Amino acid sequence: MKSIAIVYHSANGRTERIAQTIANGARRVPGCDVQLLQAQALIERPQALLAFHGLILGSPTYLGGVSAPLKALMDSTGPLWRQQKLHGRLAAGFTVSALPAGDKQSTLISLFTFCMQHGMLWAGNPILPEQHLGVPYDEAANRLGSWSGLMAQADKTSPDFCSGDLKTALVFGQHFAETLRRLQQPQLEPAQEAHA
Ligand SMILES: Cc1cc2nc3c(=O)[nH]c(=O)nc-3n(C[C@H](O)[C@H](O)[C@H](O)COP(=O)(O)O)c2cc1C
Repeated sequence: MKSIAIVYHSANGRTERIAQTIANGARRVPGCDVQLLQAQALIERPQALLAFHGLILGSPTYLGGVSAPLKALMDSTGPLWRQQKLHGRLAAGFTVSALPAGDKQSTLISLFTFCMQHGMLWAGNPILPEQHLGVPYDEAANRLGSWSGLMAQADKTSPDFCSGDLKTALVFGQHFAETLRRLQQPQLEPAQEAHA
């Protein structure tokens, strides 16, 4: 059994909606246990991350970067970094913002760099943008053309994401879980044995 945590911050529910959809995609893969965790709940106990083989980190894009609660969690992992406790785990990232570009790439690069500093392995978003296959733009998976991680866009006036972004999240989650299934990883140590 492989365990996956989707760790996110969401102030107004958009990032949470994408996190839930990623979880639904990952749950399509047999043999994967998927949990959704709010970043704020882990800031005081980041060692809880050690209980998972795979971590998918998500944040809204705030002024071209991760939001403060997600950054606080990242910063709280300093003691884990010193001991490279997260080494070898599979990781991926996603972000949601209001504007079509909105500097989402910058947020993904922060998440990527964080995971690389921890010695984790990065899984991207290897989906050919489906509009190139004739699918209408709003219905196309990876319509925003982001391979380094998942991007989704919804402005405040939209009732929900377009179907393309939800489809991207499903496929992204499924791809992550399938990749994790194929990986040989070291035994997880119990979270309580890690000293933060
Ligand atoms: C402080 C702040 C900064 C923001 N900065 C950006 C930005 O740089 N680019 C962008 O496209 N949207 C930006 N937004 C919009 C959010 O990314 C967007 O509303 C997102 O969906 C919020 O996610 P949530 O519903 O999960 O909280 C910003 C919103 C706030 C509150």
